[in-house]
Amino acid sequence: MSDLIITLDGPAGSGKSSVARKLAQRLGLEFLDTGAMYRGITAQCLDHGVNPTQEPERVIEVARSVRMRFAWGDDPPRLIIDGRDVTHRLRDPDVTVSVSDVAMLAGVREVMVRLQQRIGAEHSRLVTEGRDQGSVVFPDARVKFYLDASAKVRAGRRARQLREAGREADEAVILAQIIQRDQKDSTRKDGPLICPPDAVRIDTSEMTLEEVLNLLEAKSREKAGRAIQV
Ligand code: DC
Repeated sequence: MSDLIITLDGPAGSGKSSVARKLAQRLGLEFLDTGAMYRGITAQCLDHGVNPTQEPERVIEVARSVRMRFAWGDDPPRLIIDGRDVTHRLRDPDVTVSVSDVAMLAGVREVMVRLQQRIGAEHSRLVTEGRDQGSVVFPDARVKFYLDASAKVRAGRRARQLREAGREADEAVILAQIIQRDQKDSTRKDGPLICPPDAVRIDTSEMTLEEVLNLLEAKSREKAGRAIQV
């Protein structure tokens, strides 16, 4: 079977997390959530007394020394760090608040990018989702998407997600966090959030999840043709 990497980049709340896994299922591809990897390092730091904001050197040391892997037999794959399943920690508020400080460290990104490329080599029929997948990690990917939406729409989506998970959500606070995180993600030196020139850019503000998914599926089939077998 021929290799097929589809990259899906964009800011938090653009809808990419919700559609990436479903797109992978529809096309019969595996799915890689690279945000989970940065969240995993953040959780590992917080749970081992390393302050992600104050101690960048120690954070980089954690990223370099841990053994991170996905349990590919599960759907979605669970994230295992040094033998510990950290999946339940990834969306916790303390992790969400600190993760962009971890993701901006060049030393951390270097390790994550290498690991993602190794995963791409071993799982070469893959939908991969993140911020730098089409620009840095898989510049030769056959199909690239960049999803976007207005900050307000994105905050509303994140608030709804949290409420559905039984958590409290203050939309104004979330909006402020999103704007701050976008700012950090798009201005950092290494792997900033950008739309690769050869990516299909989609503004999902006024679209339902189903509409986004249908569009991504149609574009993928158009671009990848016979590489898609289902
Ligand atoms: O998509 P997410 O919210 O799970 O991402 C968590 C953080 O990790 C966010 O601050 C962006 C960052 N990230 C990144 O810098 N590069 C990636 N490939 C994926 C996520």
